[in-house]
Amino acid sequence: LGNKIIHFDSIDSTNEKAKEYALQGEKEGLVITAEEQTKGKGRKGRDWISSKGSGIWMSILLRPDIAPCQAPKFTLLAAVAVAKSIQEETGLLVHIKWPNDIILNKKKVCGILTEMNAELDRINYIVVGIGINVNQQENDFSEEIKNKAISLFEVKKSKISRQNLTRRILTNLEKYYLNFVKKEDFSSILKEWKELSCNLEKEVKVVLNGKEIEGIAKDITEDGALLIENREGKLIEICYGDVSVRGI
Ligand code: BTN
Repeated sequence: LGNKIIHFDSIDSTNEKAKEYALQGEKEGLVITAEEQTKGKGRKGRDWISSKGSGIWMSILLRPDIAPCQAPKFTLLAAVAVAKSIQEETGLLVHIKWPNDIILNKKKVCGILTEMNAELDRINYIVVGIGINVNQQENDFSEEIKNKAISLFEVKKSKISRQNLTRRILTNLEKYYLNFVKKEDFSSILKEWKELSCNLEKEVKVVLNGKEIEGIAKDITEDGALLIENREGKLIEICYGDVSVRGI
């Protein structure tokens, strides 16, 4: 991954750009990075604030020859690779909040947005978009997100090389990716995901189709769904939702 990296000074969204290249037939492994995004996208149509020069805003193009239903696994795989890379590069302890947030000191330091395009029963491409708050200072964040967002710099108290961290993420992501697509081994990724999780065995509240489900996060399935035990002791499988962990 990253044999071809295209860097933009300013761009609407690296995910959108990567998708454009994908539709033009670009090979897998292409990486799009940007100093700033003017229309950074988060999950569920939210905006992702991507100020100039302070974060890692990048998208990776993958073309795994697998079925579309496997796609959610890439979000988990990417979260493990990014969390590991942050730990290795900075020594900071981070956790993963299901399905795709990376948490530092109880605030969000990184978000991952995976977008897929499939034809019939095969994936055509997957774009994995990674946004990391790296060198922002506390007052760089708007009032609106200040109490939810954090940068690596704020905790580490020293500037972190975006280039080194980017390289490490690509190396680690490639390792996990090849292991998964070549050896079809997802269980080792799942094991690492569980070790890094801040949800398991904790109270969670999930909003699903406007309905709140409360309970204890018990496990994560092979498909990447979250298993919640509700008050009645019933196990509920959550494939997509906004998980909020009490205390975070
Ligand atoms: C989320 O937590 O809601 C996901 C945020 C994903 C942000 C990244 S930044 C690089 C890539 N390009 C985008 O427009 N979004 C993703």
